[in-house]
Amino acid sequence: MIARRVASLSSDFTPELPLASSATPVILGIPPTYTTDWGAAYVGDSLPLLRRIPASSIDLVLTSPPYALEFKKEYGNVAKGEYVVWLKPFGKEIKRILKPEGSFVLNIGGSYNQGTPTRSLYHFKALLMLCEDVGFHLAQECFWYNPAKLPSPAEWVTVRRQRIKDAVEYVWWLSKTPFPKANNRNVLNEYSADMKRLLKRGYKPKQRPSGHVITAKFGHDHGGAIPSSLIERGNNESNSEYIRACAEAGYKAHPARFPRALPEFFIKLLTDEGAIVVDPFAGSNMTGATAESLRRRWISVEIKPEYLLSSRVRFSSLNIGADTVA
Ligand SMILES: C[S@@+](CC[C@H](N)C(=O)[O-])C[C@H]1O[C@@H](n2cnc3c(N)ncnc32)[C@H](O)[C@@H]1O
Repeated sequence: MIARRVASLSSDFTPELPLASSATPVILGIPPTYTTDWGAAYVGDSLPLLRRIPASSIDLVLTSPPYALEFKKEYGNVAKGEYVVWLKPFGKEIKRILKPEGSFVLNIGGSYNQGTPTRSLYHFKALLMLCEDVGFHLAQECFWYNPAKLPSPAEWVTVRRQRIKDAVEYVWWLSKTPFPKANNRNVLNEYSADMKRLLKRGYKPKQRPSGHVITAKFGHDHGGAIPSSLIERGNNESNSEYIRACAEAGYKAHPARFPRALPEFFIKLLTDEGAIVVDPFAGSNMTGATAESLRRRWISVEIKPEYLLSSRVRFSSLNIGADTVA
């Protein structure tokens, strides 16, 4: 089944991909830094690499580009005023490579304006550009609640105490068409104790104070609760193994990683086994590692060789390419 899917991709893809265990999607003409059973990781600027991926061949692009922050990260940040112009060509390529039913999940953090306790609108401008100029649809706006976030900027939050702790990041779920492939049955939460009790005792239809009539269908067991658009997880908890392995190997750990829960949620919601997931700003390659564990194929690109080098600790089955950064 997987072999057939790969064979149907454009000829820009390496043709000899016979079995699931070697069904790695490879960008033709560019040696990957490493490959695994399910994916290929590249060092480089992702824009020219995206341009080499055939049109309508990718199921999901899931990524977190550098944000436009006042306080620069070690991997550099684009200035707020230039952010939309910088992001647009990536957006165009991402739309081009997605299948019609594909999704683009973009995690982006908010930011303060310099010198005042007011918030920048850059991430909203990015969303408007992607929808109004590039032509994506906003399937849903989701939020990543990170309880482990530190209170900042210190001046407004901890010193003058005029603002509260910023605890969410934005996750714009965009789609190429209004009906992207998605199934919330794949990401159900366990029912609450109250709901379990209700399912056991049965439910009598009634009208809520809001006027909504809750029918008997509410009492049916659907296998779990439909999750909300708020995904809660600290980015330190699921990365401890990675940080320990980096320290042991003497590698530099990436400073701004996804928690596993974030890519896991969207990969399960939006793709089936064998699908291809691309992360053009891969960092520590949490996206690739999560896709691998869920038996999805993946392509990741990271511009800084040291981050891609350390991302190798996330994989047990690893083929180091000729161009390995070491
Ligand atoms: C916010 S981090 C991504 C972290 C990642 N989600 C993780 O879980 O580790 C953004 C990454 O994009 C990389 N980057 C910046 N510009 C890039 C480009 N043009 N092509 C590829 N990677 C780029 C940065 O070096 C940085 O590692």
